[in-house]
Amino acid sequence: MKEEKIELVFTRAKFQELSKTEQDLIEKAKNAYLNAYAPYSGFLVGASVLLENSEVISGSNQENAAYPSGLCAERVALFYAGAKYPNTPIKTIAISTKSKTFEITDVVSPCGACRQVMAEYQQKQGQNIKIILHSPNDEVLISNSVDDLLPFMFNSEKLRKF
Ligand code: THU
Repeated sequence: MKEEKIELVFTRAKFQELSKTEQDLIEKAKNAYLNAYAPYSGFLVGASVLLENSEVISGSNQENAAYPSGLCAERVALFYAGAKYPNTPIKTIAISTKSKTFEITDVVSPCGACRQVMAEYQQKQGQNIKIILHSPNDEVLISNSVDDLLPFMFNSEKLRKF
């Protein structure tokens, strides 16, 4: 038996320390959460995806009375980007949240299913996706790759046929 450790790399920063491009992307995610349809949770999430062609695609969480039929903001934005620009790599995704119901004291990090979708696109494009998580008090957490958010990820490498 041997215990092993994995190193996960991320950066904590203040909104003001980011580049103009990254600040703009966060502002777009903040605008996006205003369009969230979240009558059941009251938890608003916005996600903005910056593509290699400089386009930004945004999405927000969309809930449903049949709860599992709703979708997180990240997947709304990622699937929209994938549907509109299937061959354009994703550079960065910024995620921001707001709630009237809950006290959010730190960044909200994406659920497992959204990380898995990010992992799929990162693998597909062969290029890392940067993830920027933004909190209501302007704290930011940055990962330069989905690898740091989803260790032991399952991806198409495991589906190679003999
Ligand atoms: N949600 C997101 O949109 N993204 C996340 O990263 C976490 C959770 C949504 C799903 C649901 O509409 C609400 O937030 C509460 O879970």
